[in-house]
Amino acid sequence: MNDLAGKHIVLGLSGGIACYKAAELCRALIKAGASVQVVMTDAAEHFITAVTMQALSGRPVFTSQWDARTSAGVDNNMPHINLSREADAIVVAPASADFMAKLLHGRADDLLSLMCLARPLDKVPLILAPAMNREMWAHPATQRNVAQLRADGATVLDVGAGDQACGETGDGRMLEAEELLYEVVRFFAPKALAGQHVLVSAGPTFEAIDPVRGLTNLSSGKMGFAIARAAHEAGAQVTLVAGPVSLPTPRGVGRVNVKSALNMQKTLDLLSQQATVFISAAAVADWRPAQMTEQKIKKDGSGQVPTLSFVENPDILAGIAATARARSGALYCVGFAAESHDLLTHAQAKRARKGVPLLVGNIGPDTFGQDDNALLLVDEQGSTELPRASKLQLARQLVGEIARRLPAARP
Ligand code: C5P
Repeated sequence: MNDLAGKHIVLGLSGGIACYKAAELCRALIKAGASVQVVMTDAAEHFITAVTMQALSGRPVFTSQWDARTSAGVDNNMPHINLSREADAIVVAPASADFMAKLLHGRADDLLSLMCLARPLDKVPLILAPAMNREMWAHPATQRNVAQLRADGATVLDVGAGDQACGETGDGRMLEAEELLYEVVRFFAPKALAGQHVLVSAGPTFEAIDPVRGLTNLSSGKMGFAIARAAHEAGAQVTLVAGPVSLPTPRGVGRVNVKSALNMQKTLDLLSQQATVFISAAAVADWRPAQMTEQKIKKDGSGQVPTLSFVENPDILAGIAATARARSGALYCVGFAAESHDLLTHAQAKRARKGVPLLVGNIGPDTFGQDDNALLLVDEQGSTELPRASKLQLARQLVGEIARRLPAARP
């Protein structure tokens, strides 16, 4: 997806084995629609060549402040000025311990640090992706530098944990290219839900018949997971309660896995007490078997089939919305409706039945398992259509629509 269309990123590499990940990051940024100008330090050139980075970025790489080539179309022999002026952000990945120490002191004896110092602070954000040995990362000097760089306005990303090139194990690995791409995309996202705690339910439920069988549905969980991601991009603290799906957890999102509707209800009831927004995208089973047998129901060869009886599951959303009304609007609830026809009529009726301010309708057979969808938002004022698009694009639009409707956003 073209999440970074129109963005120009200066990708800086300082010295570290994680330079190999910068090659992947460069590709990922370009794939996401950004243009990328690479700047490397001498130390970085020990780990990866400028030739590789030029081939991937499609632009000559700059490595020296004395480089007299035309930079950003200007012939003044000042690459540190020209390259930084056209950037929407400077992303230094990897940012070594030494490079961060240098930045902290405003030192500028190589092109990359010079460019970071010379950038207009109010226009060109600086994003640093640290990469180093675990002892270097944990050292008070590094932690002090990270804190001060943040105080000076840089965005210092967290580090990954695990095996390190030196053979040790711990914190200090640079984030993976996909994670870094997500952080860059998130950086540019409007922070419409800053300060909110968003609870999202997603996926189907599984109602056990016996220890090996159960009743479930075709919900893939993709819409709910996309909403969780979009809410996190928009600055919220996000908790995702997921039925049985095998989707990866969006970065930065807390996840609780549940199985049955009763399981989901217990978890959501508890978590909704801390939330300010609840988005109920889960496809909760309407019924569950009246009894779960402890042992597998066996075929006995007689041709006799078992008889199953069902009981209705509680309406989780309606219950939480009722509690929210009693708490006088401290929690904004959003319901979903998967219909097969007459979307508007059904969505309006469901909104009233569930007692929620906003209900999101979609056509079930058109969305289950798909990567795209179309939504119809129904609230007190009327209805709004969000035309067919990817689930992530729709999730981002929905998050914006929810943010506009929150009590604090109303005039
Ligand atoms: O009644 P219906 O299943 O169509 O309602 C859909 C909406 O209600 C969704 O937001 C779904 O998450 C929620 N729901 C629920 N508990 C149920 C059934 C649906 O919270 N038992």
